[in-house]
Amino acid sequence: MRELEVLLQAHYPLIYLVTPEEERAEQAIAAISQLKPARKLFLWTVTHGIIEYGRPRTVTQHNTVSPEAAIEWVVRQREPGIFVFKDLHPFIESASVMRWLRDAIASFKGMSKAFVLMSPVQRIPVELEKDAAVLEFPLPNMAELDEVLNGHLKTSASRTRRLSTEGREKLVKATLGLTRDEADKVYRKAEVVSGHLTEAEVDIVLSEKKQIIKRNGILEYLEVDETIDAVGGLTELKRWLGQRADAFTERARQYGLPQPKGMLILGVPGCGKSLIAKTTARLWGLPLLRLDMGRVYDGSMVGRSEANLRNALKVAESISPAILFIDEVDKAFGGAGGSGDSDGGTSSRIFGSFLTWMQEKSSPVFVMATANRVERLPSEFLRKGRFDEIFFVDLPNFEERKEIFRIHLGKRREDIARFDIDQLSHTCEGYSGAEIEQGLVAAMYDAFAQGREFTQFDILAALKATMPLSRTLTEQVTALREWARHRARPAATMLAEYQRMEF
Ligand SMILES: Nc1ncnc2c1ncn2[C@@H]1O[C@H](COP(=O)(O)OP(=O)(O)OP(=O)(O)O)[C@@H](O)[C@H]1O
Ligand SMILES: [Mg+2]
Repeated sequence: MRELEVLLQAHYPLIYLVTPEEERAEQAIAAISQLKPARKLFLWTVTHGIIEYGRPRTVTQHNTVSPEAAIEWVVRQREPGIFVFKDLHPFIESASVMRWLRDAIASFKGMSKAFVLMSPVQRIPVELEKDAAVLEFPLPNMAELDEVLNGHLKTSASRTRRLSTEGREKLVKATLGLTRDEADKVYRKAEVVSGHLTEAEVDIVLSEKKQIIKRNGILEYLEVDETIDAVGGLTELKRWLGQRADAFTERARQYGLPQPKGMLILGVPGCGKSLIAKTTARLWGLPLLRLDMGRVYDGSMVGRSEANLRNALKVAESISPAILFIDEVDKAFGGAGGSGDSDGGTSSRIFGSFLTWMQEKSSPVFVMATANRVERLPSEFLRKGRFDEIFFVDLPNFEERKEIFRIHLGKRREDIARFDIDQLSHTCEGYSGAEIEQGLVAAMYDAFAQGREFTQFDILAALKATMPLSRTLTEQVTALREWARHRARPAATMLAEYQRMEF
């Protein structure tokens, strides 16, 4: 909001304000227009034409419904003013509207006049790119959301219940990341469901918020049932994560610790990278947001993909502390930076914005990225200091495979003492955790089809019948190991590493 003020005070002739919250933005601009020297504020919509802010909608400027006529009217004004055009974007590509705008901007020289194009989507023709300052209107902060909550607490239903300061803070925090209207709806719904708003309604508010985030489509709120104990091996990685369980608390700040930024988990397919990333959210007690890079890319309009990314990151920040999970970054950013940029540089730009965000972010959003093809990742991504740590997850060794068998057998049967786990582990050298699990499931299907309980022998047979990926993709696995040896930290313990070498 401060930025908007600066731009308007500095007499920027054309500001493009991206926001779904017209009313809030309008109020903010109105407040700025009152700062000395005060300026008049006019609003244009295609339905009403130009009206002066604060005047009834019926008092419109004559014949200003068409965008061209409205811009012409603005040009004719001699007094300083701010002219807000709402949803001009469907018309902005038209040759005459664009020309009118450019002429108008040129005529503003030395005058205290400014256009603010307000719209929920960013659509700027290249011709105007140089003249326009693009701004995202920030989502409401705690204080503004507190106001929204206040409005609800005044109603009779909620007034009867006392709400502690803490409970109040929790309710407000639960709506961070929403617009004012959305927060309002969420509170109203919670009130309807339980008849009042108290601390007990935080869960309703949170689940409503999840629905809203889902609809936004790029971020996904993941619910994870499994705990970190469902991951076999990776002891060193687990220890590292365990140490940082309280990293986002006030206590850690007081102690003088910096906020962790993020980690990159590299490794062989099917060895638990995604699994550990997901279970970390449980371990740390933070919400887990998956950023789907595939959905960020949108070729329909210039600047659309960037806006998508910015939006998603903004929502993540407003929910923080949170974990932002980006699975398979090698696929998302694979095209960036290289010569194979086939999309007109979009992936490079997206990648650039992402890096900048990572560099500059001050909010506690912990990025958890996974990848299995390092050679596809742009080198800037892997540079020291970008992530707190880069871990390498290798194929499980003998002991680790035993642990994985115990975990997966234990999930399916109470009594696992009847299995010879040493023998199973011996049989599947070179298998990933996912392959071990698949083998087990295949064995169970075999036995199930024959109407009997599965045995040690079924598992051995199923494992022998499959060819592990590490054997078909030997070169790729070797190359990854070679790369990681010098640049990443092993996710397993030193002892496990040592045992691995002995094979
Ligand atoms: N170390 C492990 N301990 C327990 N289960 C495992 C382990 N590794 C893999 N699995 C099983 O395999 C499944 C797939 O693993 P996951 O998706 O985490 O692999 P990944 O490393 O992300 O693979 P990819 O590179 O293909 O994305 C897990 O959901 C889990 O059931
Ligand atoms: Mg994965």
